[in-house]
Amino acid sequence: MRPKKKWGLALSLAVMMSVVTACGGGNGGNTNNGNTGGNEAATTAPANNGGGNAAAGDKKITLGFAQVGAESGWRTANTKSIQDSAKEAGYELKFSDAQQKQENQIKAIRSYIQQKVDVIAFSPVVESGWDTVLKEAKDAGIPVILTDRAVDSADKTLYKTFIGSDFVEEGRKAGQWLADKYKDSSEDVNIVELQGTTGSAPANDRKAGFEEKIAANPKLKVIASQTGDFTRAKGKEVMQAFLKAHKDIDVLYAHNDDMALGAIQAIEAAGLKPGEDIVIISVDAVKDGMQAAADGKINFIVECNPLLGPQLMEAVQAVVDGKEIEARIVTEETTFTSEQAKEALPSRQY
Ligand code: AHR
Repeated sequence: MRPKKKWGLALSLAVMMSVVTACGGGNGGNTNNGNTGGNEAATTAPANNGGGNAAAGDKKITLGFAQVGAESGWRTANTKSIQDSAKEAGYELKFSDAQQKQENQIKAIRSYIQQKVDVIAFSPVVESGWDTVLKEAKDAGIPVILTDRAVDSADKTLYKTFIGSDFVEEGRKAGQWLADKYKDSSEDVNIVELQGTTGSAPANDRKAGFEEKIAANPKLKVIASQTGDFTRAKGKEVMQAFLKAHKDIDVLYAHNDDMALGAIQAIEAAGLKPGEDIVIISVDAVKDGMQAAADGKINFIVECNPLLGPQLMEAVQAVVDGKEIEARIVTEETTFTSEQAKEALPSRQY
């Protein structure tokens, strides 16, 4: 089955339809004082010629974006999408890389507040601990948009919208595929799990969705589960430890492709065949993961689409224009077996 080309339209509708709103702070229109702080590596996207968007009074919109880091192929594609889309929209983009540390993201957000950017967007490294800084942004009248990952703040007025995947659903898709594959198994199926960054929304949700779908079959047993921090190096290291501790691993469920790819190296080094001796499921569907699937080393991939830039820029414009936007904008995604990965690879964008 061919993956659907999907959410450009969903985004336009979501932003333009003015339905439910999370109602954050005011709608900006502030001046950028240009003073970057903390770990911010500011990149400014030059305005495009004429076709770009603008804040009221034709002033260029300044967007402060606090990125998680550069931990995976997914993140690299996500960063590029945001930078390219900001440039395309004619916004001034202030970009910072938090190196997977919450304190760096908080520092970057505070720096954007100080600089009086028009809108702040970020992908929260973990779910908890954002209320104080979000309240500071709200008090300063700077609207906040969440992309990719959610926060667990009870006060939904602290941000305007959350644009990104349904991570629980991704976990469910992974679990359902496995439940179907082993529905007639008379023997135990031993599963090891490589979790994403501890406390992050995708790690929490992909675990929960997966567990929900395998729960009905007592033969499906998660015998070990540990974080690999969404990186290839950590995925390899933890898989090595799993292989040492357990001689009877049937399935690996990795919360992203990078960890699965690191684990594949460990499996091969142990003299086993990934995809045959150990069935592998992962999430993301970045090019390297899709290649491994096409080669038969990953058996099933759940897509997590990183190309959130266009959706984000439309939401930024809507917020600056004072329009109400949907409180939740969900990215549509598909799944790939090895055969489907082979078919989709030539036209894969990331
Ligand atoms: O938040 C999305 C997740 O973060 C991706 O699945 C993973 O690869 C990334 O690091």
